[in-house]
Amino acid sequence: MTWHRVARSEELVEGEWKIVLVAGKRIGVVRREGACYAVLDICPHAGAPVCRGRLTGRVTCDDRHRVGYDPHAHTLRCPWHRWEFDLASGHGVAAIRQKLKTYPVRVAGADIEVQV
Ligand code: FES
Repeated sequence: MTWHRVARSEELVEGEWKIVLVAGKRIGVVRREGACYAVLDICPHAGAPVCRGRLTGRVTCDDRHRVGYDPHAHTLRCPWHRWEFDLASGHGVAAIRQKLKTYPVRVAGADIEVQV
C-alpha cells in the first residue's frame, strides 16, 4: 500500500467530491466537517458510480424507539437504489451487509493523500 497525493488541501471543497484515478481505481475524495474520506466509486450492490449519490446524515432510533436524525453521521446514499453507507467505515447502514471500499486519507502539509 502506497500513499498517493490526490489534491491540494484547498482544492477539496466541503461536501464536493473530487474524483481521482489512482492505481487504475476510480476513487472519490470528499471533506465533511473537517474530516476527509476516500471511497471506491463503485457501489458494492450493482456497480453504480456511488460518489454521484447524496451526502447525508443518518436517521437514528434510540432505546425508546424515538426516531431522530444525526447530521454528523456522515453517510453516502447511492444514486441508483438508495442504499446508504457510512463514509468512514464503508459499512452499509441498517440491514445492508455489503461494504463500500474505503481508503485511508491523510493530510501531508498542504496535500491530501490516499493510501491505495
Ligand atoms: S447500485 Fe448502489 S444501491 Fe444499487
